[in-house]
Amino acid sequence: MARKATTYVCADCGTSYPKWNGRCDNCGAWNSLSEEQAPEGAPKGLGKGKGRRIEFVGLKGKEKQPPRRVTQLAEFDRVSGGGLVPGSASLVGGDPGIGKSTLLMQVAAALAAGFKCAYISGEEAIDQLRLRAARLGLEDAAVGLAAATSVRDIVTTLEGADAPDIVVIDSIQCMYVDTLDSAPGTVAQVRTSAQELIRAAKRQGFALILVGHVTKEGTIAGPRVLEHMVDTVLYFEGDPSHQFRILRSVKNRFGPADEIGVFEMTETGLHEVPNPSALFLADHQGEVNGASVFAGMEGTRPMLVEIQSLIAPSQQATPRRAVVGWDSGRLAMIMAVLEARCGVALAGAEVYLNVAGGLRIREPAADLAVAAALVSSVTGRPVPGETVVFGEVGLSGEVRAVSQMEARLKEAEKLGFTRAIVPVVRGKAGDKKAKRLNTNLTLTQIEHLDDLVVLFGGADGAQGARKGPAEVRNLGPAVGLEGR
Ligand code: TYD
Ligand code: MG
Repeated sequence: MARKATTYVCADCGTSYPKWNGRCDNCGAWNSLSEEQAPEGAPKGLGKGKGRRIEFVGLKGKEKQPPRRVTQLAEFDRVSGGGLVPGSASLVGGDPGIGKSTLLMQVAAALAAGFKCAYISGEEAIDQLRLRAARLGLEDAAVGLAAATSVRDIVTTLEGADAPDIVVIDSIQCMYVDTLDSAPGTVAQVRTSAQELIRAAKRQGFALILVGHVTKEGTIAGPRVLEHMVDTVLYFEGDPSHQFRILRSVKNRFGPADEIGVFEMTETGLHEVPNPSALFLADHQGEVNGASVFAGMEGTRPMLVEIQSLIAPSQQATPRRAVVGWDSGRLAMIMAVLEARCGVALAGAEVYLNVAGGLRIREPAADLAVAAALVSSVTGRPVPGETVVFGEVGLSGEVRAVSQMEARLKEAEKLGFTRAIVPVVRGKAGDKKAKRLNTNLTLTQIEHLDDLVVLFGGADGAQGARKGPAEVRNLGPAVGLEGR
C-alpha cells in the first residue's frame, strides 16, 4: 500500500512544503506551518482522453440579473456595493469581540423583512444567540437560527426546496468536512468547507456571508486562498475601547473597494453613523503643539481626523517608537526624511504617534499631516488653528499631490476650517505655474518638507540642504495661493 505523503502547509498563505520549516519562505510568517496529509497519488496530468468543447458567448446576456438584496442598513449597503448579490460569497473578518456576530445578526434581521434568512452559528449555542437577539430588540425578525458545524449537514439543509436567500455562517473556522482527517480551523478544513459552501451558494443562488477570524497580524486566519475564493472581503475594525466600528471593503467583485461604513456600538447594538466626517474630531482641542488635523478620504467619503504626536527625550540606546492607527514603517520613513533632508533631529528621542478616535489610516496622503505634527512637537509651536493638512512625502523630502484634493478642502470648509497646508499641484511635470485649486480656504502650498519646517520657525539645529528664505516657495500668508 502506498504511504500517505505528508506536507506542511502555511496557515497564512497556503504554500505547502515537503519539510517542516520555522519560517514560511513565501510570506515570511514564523511558526505558521502545520502538518497535513496530502491527497493520495500524484496528479497524473490530462492523459489521453478528449474533453468536451467549450462554447464562447458574448458579453451581453439576454436574461436580466436578479436584483441585489438590499438591507436598508445604508452603511452596510454602501460597503457591499449596493446590496448583496444572489449567488455571491462574502467574507467578513475582524478581531474577536469587535462585533461581527452582532452586525450579521442585524443584517440578517433587516433582510428577513423581504427574504428568507438563515443564521448558522458554530460558536454559540441557540440560547446565546437568542439572548443577543433580545438585546438587539430583534426577537420578532423571521431569521432561521441553527447551531451546526458539519458542512455536509449544512449543505444538505440548504439544498432543499425551501432554501433560504441569505445564509450567514459564523464562523468558517468552526466548520468541518467529515472526509478530511484534520481538525476544524486547519488550512485544509477551512479551504474545503468554504469551497463546498460557496459551490452550494452558486448552485442555489443564495447570498453567502462567511465570518472569518483574524490573526494577530490582522489578516483573515486560514489561507489567503480564502480571500481569492470569495467575491467580497469586508473587514470590521475599530479600537475596542472606542465605540466606533468601521466596516471596510478590501475586495469587491460587484462594487468599489476601499469603501467604508461607520457604526457606533451601543447598549442596543450597532447604530449607523451617516455623516462621519467630523466624528473623529469631536475632542479636538484647537491649537495644541504636536497635533494636526488630516483631511483624509475613506473610499468616496472625506473624513477629518486629528493626528497627535509626542516627542520625549529618551535614556535608552534604542528609543521607543509607538504608533496607533498608522503604519509604523511609514512613520520611520517620515522621521528619516525629516532627519536626513531637513535636519530635524529625532534619532535620540522617543516618538509616539496616535490617530485620535480609533480610526486606522492607510493613505500616504497623511504623510504631511504626520510630519506637521512631528515638527510642531519638536519646535513646540502648534499648527495654526482651523488648519487642515494633507500631502504625500517622497524620500527626497518632496511633497506630492494626492487624489481628490478639492473634495478634501470642501469638507474641511464645511466643518469650519479656514486654512490648509497642501502640496503644490502642477498641470504637467515641469510646469512653472502651479494649478489653482477651487476652494475658499487660504492655502499654503508647499513643495518640500523644508518649507514645512520653515513654517514652524525652523527646528533647533535644523540644517536643511535648502535653508534660507530665498529657496522657500509658496510660503506664508502673503505668498499663499488664495482661492477664489
Ligand atoms: P460580537 O458580535 O459577539 O463580536 P464578534 O462576533 O466579532 O466576536 O460582539 C461582542 C461585543 O460587542 C461584546 O464585547 C459586547 C458588545 N456588544 C455591545 O456593546 N452591545 C450590544 O448590543 C451587543 C450585542 C454587543
Ligand atoms: Mg462572534
